[in-house]
Amino acid sequence: MKYLNVSKAKSVYAAGGNVTEFLRKETGSPVNTSEIIEIAYDLQAGSYIEGVQANMGQAKAYAGELAGLLAPHMEDGKTLLDVGTGEMTTLSLLLASLDQKIGTAFAFDISWSRLYKGLGFSRSLLKDQSSLITPFVADMKAIPLADKCIDVVTSNHALEPNGGNLSGLLTELFRVCREKLVLFEPSYELNSDEGRQRMDRLGYIKDIEGAVAKLGGSLLDVVPVPNVANPLNPTACYVIEPAKNDFLSVGPSGERAAFTVPGTAFELMKTDGFWYSKETGLAFPELKGIPVLKSDNGILASHLG
Ligand SMILES: C[S@@+](CC[C@H](N)C(=O)[O-])C[C@H]1O[C@@H](n2cnc3c(N)ncnc32)[C@H](O)[C@@H]1O
Repeated sequence: MKYLNVSKAKSVYAAGGNVTEFLRKETGSPVNTSEIIEIAYDLQAGSYIEGVQANMGQAKAYAGELAGLLAPHMEDGKTLLDVGTGEMTTLSLLLASLDQKIGTAFAFDISWSRLYKGLGFSRSLLKDQSSLITPFVADMKAIPLADKCIDVVTSNHALEPNGGNLSGLLTELFRVCREKLVLFEPSYELNSDEGRQRMDRLGYIKDIEGAVAKLGGSLLDVVPVPNVANPLNPTACYVIEPAKNDFLSVGPSGERAAFTVPGTAFELMKTDGFWYSKETGLAFPELKGIPVLKSDNGILASHLG
């Protein structure tokens, strides 16, 4: 990881400023890099839980709408992956209102602190059902899961800040997804002029339809979500079939997904509290029960195994 002095970013956050905008200026980057996104969101850890607890009715109504849009694409026993899950607030509320009994919900975020806070929220809301969720730290551009091991991939405003790399992220989501992606993301195309200007200023994604087509995927449907919190950032549900890729082997649905070296098919096994790959000799840490599986967290330890 490139180190940045986060104290200035903390002051910007405390004063209600936009941290990604500040860090882009500070680092001279035209786009939100993974490091910028990680810092900006890690500083906010806990704030979404507070927001949801203060507006539980609105949060439940929104998650209920998402569950209704996801339901036709889910069946009992299927594997779900929530990318950029944050504090697991939307995922937990969505699982609470989904009729299907999903097999496993994998959930990752680039920020460890947000997942750590989120574990407490999901346990208090879902009780025993929270054990369905397997959380881990990862960057969407190199997901530590094997090819085609997830039935349905979902997101809620998570691809959003990655305006500089939408195609890269979709390529990786297509790699791990076996059946469908049901993404709840802001729609630039359905937005007002004022909303588009805001999305441009914040480095948000646009033209999901064009990016999916370029990669050989199929956009099956785009449905505006009625219950949006911010009219300048309207959510749409994008139902996408991943590109067919003959080079990737597709295992049977229900096969247990395993962690891998980020962005590859090299499997990781748990050894002495670390996640270890025999083939690459890389070990990845686990902090408070949360595996930290980002490429730059790999430690070359060829003698560990
Ligand atoms: C607007 S928040 C939404 C969080 C959550 N989905 C929800 O509904 O509350 C965006 C989340 O996506 C995560 N995120 C953005 N880009 C990411 C990336 N490239 N890899 C992993 N997580 C990412 C951020 O860390 C943040 O927690």
